[in-house]
Amino acid sequence: MLSHISRFQESLDKRREEGTLRRLRLPSGGIDFYSNDYLGLAKSKDFQHSLLQKIMAHPQLLSGSTGSRLISGNSDIAVSVENDIAQTHQFESALLFPSGYNANLALFSTLPSRHDTVIVDEQIHRSVHDACRLSNAKKLKFKHNDIEDLENVLKRQNGHCYIAIESLYSMEGDFAPLQEISAIADQYKASLIVDEAHAFGVFGYGLVEKYQLQNQVSAAVVTYGKALGAHGAAILCNETVKSYLINFASPFIYTTSAQDFQWMSIKTGYEFLDQHQDLAKKLQDNIRVFRSRNLDSPSAETSPIQAIVIPDNQQLKQVQNTLSEEGFLTYAIYSPTVKEGSERLRICLHSFNTEEEIIKLTGIIREFI
Ligand SMILES: Cc1ncc(COP(=O)(O)O)c(C=O)c1O
Repeated sequence: MLSHISRFQESLDKRREEGTLRRLRLPSGGIDFYSNDYLGLAKSKDFQHSLLQKIMAHPQLLSGSTGSRLISGNSDIAVSVENDIAQTHQFESALLFPSGYNANLALFSTLPSRHDTVIVDEQIHRSVHDACRLSNAKKLKFKHNDIEDLENVLKRQNGHCYIAIESLYSMEGDFAPLQEISAIADQYKASLIVDEAHAFGVFGYGLVEKYQLQNQVSAAVVTYGKALGAHGAAILCNETVKSYLINFASPFIYTTSAQDFQWMSIKTGYEFLDQHQDLAKKLQDNIRVFRSRNLDSPSAETSPIQAIVIPDNQQLKQVQNTLSEEGFLTYAIYSPTVKEGSERLRICLHSFNTEEEIIKLTGIIREFI
């Protein structure tokens, strides 16, 4: 075998031996405790019907965009959806992307220059790390949600600093101390960037909006593939940042724009969320049921992501297999995705889960911990 192919094979074999080999599986039937469809929009027949009506009225929504937004791919819909999003979130402007991964790639590969430093929470999403590799800036980490550590790192820098955090973390299911970090960013004249992928829709329009921090952050990212049940993302920022991204962000410039259908589904998602505020309340009721079962978890009381640490890859696999045999779909996160010793079962709660399901699920987990 060619040497590089045998190297690939060795890495794959190692994962197989450790039981951590990733495979593409078709979704199996079961009770959903693993998807990011927190409010059930991706499953909602009403939401599907609203989208279908828009397509029937405007079938051209489904056509390809024909080019980059800077050439032939821009449209009235893209521009008007961006204006609506900016207004809704009370930001000066918004820039749409086909996914949150692309939005983060654009932001962090473009804004920081070679003299700058990007200081990331150690649990920041992989897309931010990948973006930093495309940028010429230095990247440093601070301990998860540790304000003192963040300040220590900030103190030692000379150039301009960017701070990258998530408002609700996807692995731990805990919140960033958003207001405190915003105050520190202000004190050190650093640019704060907040990824709201998991908070948007679950907590209104996100926590930046909730705490009215729009003027304190340089940018926020909201994604539409989770609570909105669609796909895509927007960077919320001021006009200068938007114009800078349009001029210098390769992930925005050198790619064909998404179809108008994507932008229309995002607009329809916002309308649907506004008309169904009961869904986020129902989700909180379910989170309360889960928390009342007193499983040990580092996650926040009101978080739809509840992590149960089971620090052993084999035991974790056993719990997940038993849950799967009982019809529960859950997601196990093994090292090295999380630090060794902090392997975990990641439970995502939804508005559509029933109390009975949550009680049965937690009962099974309890037998193993
Ligand atoms: C915190 C965070 N940011 C960004 C992303 C990427 O968003 P998308 O799935 O829309 O590419 C995700 C999703 O995996 C995420 O959890």
